[in-house]
Amino acid sequence: MVRREAVVRQEWWDVLRPPADLAHQCGQLISEQQPEGALEQQKLRQLVQAIADQPELWQPLVVQDPTRRRYRLLYEDDRIDVWVLSWMPGQATGFHDHDHSEVALMCVQGTILERQMLLPSGASKVEMTPGTVRTGGAGYIHAVNHLHGEPAVSIHAYSPPLIHVGQYVIDEAGILERKIEHGRRELMDNTIQI
Ligand SMILES: [Fe+2]
Repeated sequence: MVRREAVVRQEWWDVLRPPADLAHQCGQLISEQQPEGALEQQKLRQLVQAIADQPELWQPLVVQDPTRRRYRLLYEDDRIDVWVLSWMPGQATGFHDHDHSEVALMCVQGTILERQMLLPSGASKVEMTPGTVRTGGAGYIHAVNHLHGEPAVSIHAYSPPLIHVGQYVIDEAGILERKIEHGRRELMDNTIQI
């Protein structure tokens, strides 16, 4: 396959093309968890823990970039995708959901902060250090940001694969809106400030 630099940026190519051996090993872990069908959040939890236990699977995908939050695909098929995210100071997602996908995320390096909205104002806060796992079903809403480590690193698994995310913004009239974004678009922290 020829690289088309003008169409697909090098950066994006790297994002979506995991080393074949790593993807193969991750696929084996997934099959061990569940040979077919979408994985529910408890299976996703077990999977990210199994991946975390094998640093040789995720460490090669860690990127230190102070200018933007980086993510690398570790594995994908028609029922799941698995990502390695690298967080530097100031980097954050803003509030979002994962549409139909269930999710598990696990911190494996440094510290990240997960928040969930507490209406009418405020947010819960969970500091995630290496070993902390959070899971959610379809419709789970959260925001994640960097706290410590350069980079902090987390492993995220989504099933079914993350096709869309909903980002939460407030318009000029103060009305909450859910904006539907491509699941692989970089989320920016320009949504609700709580
Ligand atoms: Fe998320």
